[in-house]
Amino acid sequence: MEKNTVKDIDLKGKLVFVRCDFNVPLKEDGSIADTTRIDSALPTIQYLQAQGAKVILASHLGRPKGEFKEEFSMKPVAKSLSEKLNSDVKLSQDVTGPSARAIAEELKEGEIELLENLRFDPREEANDAEFCQELAHLGGGVEVYVNDAFGTAHRAHSSTEGITKYVEGDKVAGLLMQKEIENLGAVLENPEKPFVAILGGAKVSDKIGVIENLMNKVNTIVIGGAMANTFLKAKGYEIGDSKYEQEKVEQAKEIMKKAFDTGIEIVLPTDGHIVKVSLDEKLTPETVENAEDKTVIVEAGIPAGWQMLDVGEQTLDNFYEVITKAKTIVWNGPLGYTEAQKCLKGTKTVANIISNTKAKCVVGGGDSGAAMKKVEKENGEPFENIYISTGGGASLEFLEGKQLPGIACLDNKQAEREVTTSNSATGGKVQANKQEQSQIVD
Ligand code: 3PG
Repeated sequence: MEKNTVKDIDLKGKLVFVRCDFNVPLKEDGSIADTTRIDSALPTIQYLQAQGAKVILASHLGRPKGEFKEEFSMKPVAKSLSEKLNSDVKLSQDVTGPSARAIAEELKEGEIELLENLRFDPREEANDAEFCQELAHLGGGVEVYVNDAFGTAHRAHSSTEGITKYVEGDKVAGLLMQKEIENLGAVLENPEKPFVAILGGAKVSDKIGVIENLMNKVNTIVIGGAMANTFLKAKGYEIGDSKYEQEKVEQAKEIMKKAFDTGIEIVLPTDGHIVKVSLDEKLTPETVENAEDKTVIVEAGIPAGWQMLDVGEQTLDNFYEVITKAKTIVWNGPLGYTEAQKCLKGTKTVANIISNTKAKCVVGGGDSGAAMKKVEKENGEPFENIYISTGGGASLEFLEGKQLPGIACLDNKQAEREVTTSNSATGGKVQANKQEQSQIVD
């Protein structure tokens, strides 16, 4: 899958609409809790500025459900961007109304407008043709469309997909989008073996699509997090008050059978860090931190009134054996209840094991991304060799092998390939122009 990027086109003096994913977590006081998604968008914005483009940035923030809600205003994003870019980022008071239009019309080369939250208008999520046209006609007509919002590429919304029907000029990937496609695509396309998938998080149901798509590619699937409980239940173990999905137990059995039949190893927890919190109690970091805890061997059974909230030492030794042999690793979902410090160990240990290998490792965003950030903070340094995607749902759908509408609508690269004809009498080269048809890894 090769898409044209901002680097492939002329941007000088052009009015460029850039869809970013500035859907950042906010603190209670309204300030930004984690600026990763803003930081990740900076290279594209700075590149556009340096090329002399007139830049309109647009994003959603939260789920305001089609109406103006002050707590979802892009104000904190505009402030953060202005500081980080050392430029005046002009925030419009509406999405496509008089304020947005006036700022867009006045933009000069290198200047930046940020539209108010796209989801303040119900037509954004409806992929409404009229709204798409309003976005495309800002400033007298958008000349280039850039999608840098990988995190929202699985949504076919006005700003991520529909708008491209009304922009006559280039429709290209931003630098973050390109990086995401390259990193996630590499593990699916030609993974060096052994290829290990590490799956965690709450639900098996969220990961079925990924398991199915990876089943014929990986050598080993390592399972942790609450989703492991469904597999342990399927194996007949007593799991106490641990959360699991009753309706997925049969599917878990089928997955294990299919894996066995096809020679794929599934590594489940053999011991667990259990915490005395019953299913009736609300699971919060505080309840967990204050509750009694211990380690048990899974085969011995987890007692009633206790939940497994992290993997144990023996399990980590088993994971170590597999992970240190891997050449490619894809990881989606934390291995424990990482919101509580005392249940971060499994995820932290595995992350640190991976960081000491030479494997190519890609981590899907969302909860796993947040857990990895927590580990990086504890370690005091970022992981050099682990790629952490900015996409949550988007990275999951990508790993499921689905076409993401926000990527499919971008211009394919017109690849001029040199095909060396080894049996040619002249030994010469044949130039072949090839329109890349494939948009997502097959
Ligand atoms: C995300 O945070 O995963 C993206 O920004 C998409 O947000 P959404 O799930 O509200 O569409």
